[in-house]
Amino acid sequence: MARPQSRFVCQSCGESFLRWEGQCRACAAWNSLVETVVRGTPAVARRRAAPGADRAADAIPLGRLAAQAAVARLPSGIAELDRVLGGGLVPGSLVLVGGEPGIGKSTLLLQAAAGLAASGATSGAGHVLYATGEESAAQIRLRAARLGLLHGPASDGIHVLAEHEIERIGEIARRDRPGVVVVDSIQTATVGELEGPAGSVGQVREAALRLMELAKGEGIAVVLVGHVTKDGSLAGPKTLEHLVDAVLSLEGERTGGLRLVRAVKNRFGSTEEVGVLEMGELGLHEVADPARAFLGDHDMSAPGSVVGVTLEGTRALLVEVQALAAQAPYGTPRRTAIGLDAGRLALLVAVLGRRAGINLGSHDVYANLAGGLAAADPALDLPVALALASTFRDRPVPGGLVAIGEVGLLGELRAVGGMERRLREAARLGFSRAIIPRSHASATAAPSIPGLIVNAVGTVREALGVALEAPDGSGPGELPAAGRTRDGQPPASSGRPGAPSARG
Ligand code: TYD
Ligand code: MG
Repeated sequence: MARPQSRFVCQSCGESFLRWEGQCRACAAWNSLVETVVRGTPAVARRRAAPGADRAADAIPLGRLAAQAAVARLPSGIAELDRVLGGGLVPGSLVLVGGEPGIGKSTLLLQAAAGLAASGATSGAGHVLYATGEESAAQIRLRAARLGLLHGPASDGIHVLAEHEIERIGEIARRDRPGVVVVDSIQTATVGELEGPAGSVGQVREAALRLMELAKGEGIAVVLVGHVTKDGSLAGPKTLEHLVDAVLSLEGERTGGLRLVRAVKNRFGSTEEVGVLEMGELGLHEVADPARAFLGDHDMSAPGSVVGVTLEGTRALLVEVQALAAQAPYGTPRRTAIGLDAGRLALLVAVLGRRAGINLGSHDVYANLAGGLAAADPALDLPVALALASTFRDRPVPGGLVAIGEVGLLGELRAVGGMERRLREAARLGFSRAIIPRSHASATAAPSIPGLIVNAVGTVREALGVALEAPDGSGPGELPAAGRTRDGQPPASSGRPGAPSARG
């Protein structure tokens, strides 16, 4: 029994050791030793040979592949999740669902399991095995009761197994032959032959490899839950991401209700699609209109708030950008970005200072996207820049305005993809004016959307002119007409528009 079954293998040079050490003695790499099961060669060799390939398969001529490759998908019944998966779960695939603790991964998967069980019952794909090392069966029952799953197809179609040992889970799956296995979570899963604690790199990797064997060998779809750390990386080895067929991430603010499902990787579909869900009293449900979900519902005409449009996959989402600039009391001013790229924020602050006369050098600057959305769309540059200028001048932008465009280092506005789709969505949701880069006006016919006045401008400075130069004394309100002030005069473009006047 006491035979040595695990070794510590250096991940950079491959040398193996009996004990864990901080530095590899062979190649001097730090923290590179990972506990690894050493078994008789057949099993290891078999695993190394092309993961995913049929064991005894012959090489098949390309022309005959297509017929085989047409995959039937198992719908989860949650349309937004199926959308991200590319139409449903692929039999025999290994999918990782990541997210911060408490974000709703177990809830999502229990609801998806119910849908999969229902579709499995009709299609003959079989039941769902829900293995959990995180919670007891009683806790699962409690959640299922809350989600209303104790009666109906899920009551028979989901088999719950409170177990963290991968061998046991595999054994039961091979015996009962479910269509889908859910393992919640990979960090609590353990492989008996390894000594390391659950969640250690060696355990996580080995457990995932075993589950991959189960998925590919038996044609069972396996869904893993993985916790991610605050900085957004999946706890456990990065190799997990390479191993699985798809990585989905569940994002959002834990305190707010909105959740975004995003495909970070997908071998069976597009990685760009997002799904929007809302956590309610009875679990996750779809929202009526995802495009407006991240808008917030308060009065938009506060200084520092500007609406932008981000394109996530084929879906345009309107989102409120909020910014706050406050005189920094001492030291280096802070730059805090939530849901936005911090480097991008710093760049916009610099461009505003040099190209548009908005000097935030001695201000603490905060910028975030409302509703817990995180987006890296360059089209959000312009709304961020306008929001910064708006808070700096303590002047709101008019209601009904959206801003779309990338900002270059020279303060110039650059074209972004999908402009027409963005504008149509804004118009549909009742926005009446859009500020976009001038290059769009010449390049495409996009900016002729009924009900939407489009201001195509060349630079950030011009955009500020349109958005913030309301006539003196007027509060927030509708801009009278493109590029004109309320009394019909052209906007003050000479002098120092918007600079605090001497009158006081
Ligand atoms: P959970 O799925 O346990 O999160 P994870 O598995 O990612 O750690 O869900 C956690 C939160 O969701 C918890 O704070 C309670 C909340 N919740 C609801 O708001 N409504 C519900 O119907 C359920 C089941 C959970
Ligand atoms: Mg959980």
